[in-house]
Amino acid sequence: MEPILKVQDLHTEITTNYGTFEAVSGVSFELGKGETLGLVGESGCGKSLTSLSITGLLGPKVRVAAGEAIFEGRDIFKLSPKEMRQLRGGKISMIFQEPMTALNPLFTVGNQMVEMMLPHMKITKKEALKRSVELLTDMGIERPEQVVKSYPFELSGGMLQRVMIAMSLSCNPKILIADEPTTALDVTIQAQILKLMNELKHKYDTSIILITHNLGVVAQICDRVAVMYFGRIMETAPVKRLFEQPLHPYTKGLFLCIPKLDQDEDFLSTIPGMVPALTEKTEGCAFAPRCPRCTDRCRREEPELVEVEEGHFCRCWGVLEDKA
Ligand SMILES: Nc1ncnc2c1ncn2[C@@H]1O[C@H](COP(=O)(O)OP(=O)(O)OP(=O)(O)O)[C@@H](O)[C@H]1O
Ligand SMILES: [Mg+2]
Repeated sequence: MEPILKVQDLHTEITTNYGTFEAVSGVSFELGKGETLGLVGESGCGKSLTSLSITGLLGPKVRVAAGEAIFEGRDIFKLSPKEMRQLRGGKISMIFQEPMTALNPLFTVGNQMVEMMLPHMKITKKEALKRSVELLTDMGIERPEQVVKSYPFELSGGMLQRVMIAMSLSCNPKILIADEPTTALDVTIQAQILKLMNELKHKYDTSIILITHNLGVVAQICDRVAVMYFGRIMETAPVKRLFEQPLHPYTKGLFLCIPKLDQDEDFLSTIPGMVPALTEKTEGCAFAPRCPRCTDRCRREEPELVEVEEGHFCRCWGVLEDKA
């Protein structure tokens, strides 16, 4: 199947007072049509910057230094700011963790939904408003006619997140990038929103990149997962394979961090140590200092991301030796 998005060797740099550092180092992945790809990894490993690079929403000191992202036959990184704006919110849209920050407190929900649609769709204001009500209904919102007339502060967090998802889907995006879309919500609403995203993906055939810390969420709605560490993809596989047989010591560590109900111990196994700071120079494998099976070679040479079985890629000398 031809992927809808193909990211190749993405490098994203941040300039600070101490110099320029790479926060995303050679990330490559493909996103299939209607596929949900989970991006996981500890805080600071570059998940958000990867997705912000694709949507062109990087801050002033951050830039894509190399790589390409092919969407509909064109490299997104070569688009003009105007073309990029057209793409964003249109064919590629994004949901963030905090819905309040993305909504304007001074305008009604309906007003903002309409304003979002008008530049991207051949549609009148009246049609756009009708569509807003339909989309809110799709989100399981009761009395949507009333919600379109509401201001953001009149709605609960869970409601606002539904509004955000409705907005992000309003222009029939081909790709939806959701960065921790449910972290700020309580568990029941989280579950509802995830169920909804799952239904929407089937209804509209939208491809989704879902960024999350939560492996349970990944298991529920992703088709494939990419595990990131220090700006790199360490392992990627179909979700079932990754859960059945994680290979990378880092991925195994992440799985051990999930609390289990049947565990008697009142502690969580965690991966010792921390993600290196961006300013740290790593030699060899970035995970080596924290890895239980690290060897001299791991400290010296960085392994490549290698396909170890169909669709299952891993960046680890130890795993490669096991498979050899
Ligand atoms: N605008 C910025 N200026 C300086 N450093 C930044 C900036 N944005 C991100 N970083 C740094 O780049 C690295 C990657 O950040 P990113 O936000 O992509 O991580 P993340 O995987 O999304 O983490 P989280 O799970 O906490 O959201 C981190 O070390 C972060 O501190
Ligand atoms: Mg993030």
